[in-house]
Amino acid sequence: MLLPTTLLTLLCFFFFDALSAEEVVTCSNIVPFPRRTDKISITDFGGVGDGVTLNTKAFREAVYRIRHLHRNGGTVLFVPPGIYVSEPFNLTSHMTLYLAAGAVIRATQDLSTWPLIAPLPSYGRGRELPGGRYMSFLHGDGLEDVIITGENGTIDGQGEVWWNMWRKQTLKFTRPNLVEFVNSKNIIISNVIFKDSPFWNIHPVYCSNVVVRFTTILAPRDSPNTDGIDPDSSSNVCIEDSYISTGDDLVAVKSGWDEYGIAYGRPSSDITIRRVTGSSPFSGIAVGSETSGGVENVLAEHINLFKMGVGIHVKTNTGRGGLIHNITVSQDARKGIKISGDVGGHPDDRFDPNALPVVKGITINNVWGVKVLQAGLIKGLNKAPFTEVCLSDINLHGETGPRTPPWQCSDVVGVAHQVSPWPCSELISQQSGSCGNFS
Ligand SMILES: *[C@@H]1O[C@H](CO)[C@@H](O)[C@H](O)[C@H]1NC(C)=O
Ligand SMILES: *[C@@H]1O[C@H](CO)[C@@H](O)[C@H](O)[C@H]1NC(C)=O
Ligand SMILES: *[C@@H]1O[C@H](CO)[C@@H](O)[C@H](O)[C@H]1NC(C)=O
Repeated sequence: MLLPTTLLTLLCFFFFDALSAEEVVTCSNIVPFPRRTDKISITDFGGVGDGVTLNTKAFREAVYRIRHLHRNGGTVLFVPPGIYVSEPFNLTSHMTLYLAAGAVIRATQDLSTWPLIAPLPSYGRGRELPGGRYMSFLHGDGLEDVIITGENGTIDGQGEVWWNMWRKQTLKFTRPNLVEFVNSKNIIISNVIFKDSPFWNIHPVYCSNVVVRFTTILAPRDSPNTDGIDPDSSSNVCIEDSYISTGDDLVAVKSGWDEYGIAYGRPSSDITIRRVTGSSPFSGIAVGSETSGGVENVLAEHINLFKMGVGIHVKTNTGRGGLIHNITVSQDARKGIKISGDVGGHPDDRFDPNALPVVKGITINNVWGVKVLQAGLIKGLNKAPFTEVCLSDINLHGETGPRTPPWQCSDVVGVAHQVSPWPCSELISQQSGSCGNFS
């Protein structure tokens, strides 16, 4: 009797293993994972991880060596345990920046030599202030096949000094991102901790095939504009299995700002966000508010949010233009849903007031929330109502019991199925439980 039972148990294990392995969808096929045999260490270039020595020269020389002595399959730049202070530096193609356990690459707080770079054409100016902007701490422009990974070492922006300048309004230009890739492809960021970014943490802009997974992104709840990951005018971006707790949106999909974004005309498309957990006083999953190049095919699933401002926020504005289409979000959240057409400022007064954003095909399903202050707000534009909005299987409970303050809607057309509390009359009841005919 013993043998058959054991066999059966074993068989069951195999069966379930195979099943769960198949069920878990991951980003792993989006970017080819290169095998690099050439390895160098930052210490070969005079790097000192004592938390004091400035390692700018070591990082820039190591990257120069990778770029000019390019080896087949690229090169791994190893950063051993220790705290390596540096000014910003550029990465190069076919490199892996590998942070060992206990390795910290820390941004200098001496800002006097922090380089300025040109504004992004799709923004026309720095996001915060007119003119150029500070270069990101780690920067890549026109690159391919770049990996930032390791054993959960830390990239530390020491953002406090920048946040204080923002608070005192003494900034001269737009603050730097922690990591930015411009015009790049085949990028993997995994098993790294990002800490205290001066501004947005990870900003791929005009990029394709970008994977961000197994990352931890941390900044204080009161740190200004420390967005987690902002895919911007980029396609095939996959974000998964990450923990993000910052002072602003956890993930915000963007595509340029008003007339500059419209003229540049580069959308964000095919963005997948899954198994992300986190907390922020602003939004969990946001689209916008800079969406002038358009945003298409965003899928966010298995999102687990707590202590949020808003769970899901699709935000745009008059003057933005752009088409926001086919956005699907399913999540586990504690705060409601917001789709609004009056969010965010303008780069200058040359924006076109007739450039109305088009928002259609927003599907939100399987959302569960407790202690929700307001279930939802859907506020389209009078001259450009939001269409094809579908809400299904949404259950939002209030702070004190099952009654949550009601939805507020205007200028929206769509359907709802099994939504509690029941949304506004603009969304008509649909019997069958699917949003299928829209997406
Ligand atoms: C980094 O790269 C940018 C753009 O490719 C270039 O303009 C800049 O001079 C480089 N900066 C440094 C510090 O190497
Ligand atoms: C690094 O962190 C990720 C995400 O939190 C975790 O899954 C992974 O096991 C960690 N890896 C190591 C080597 O500690
Ligand atoms: C909508 O987006 C999803 C997920 O990104 C994608 O699988 C689907 O093909 C898209 N639908 C259309 C009509 O483009």
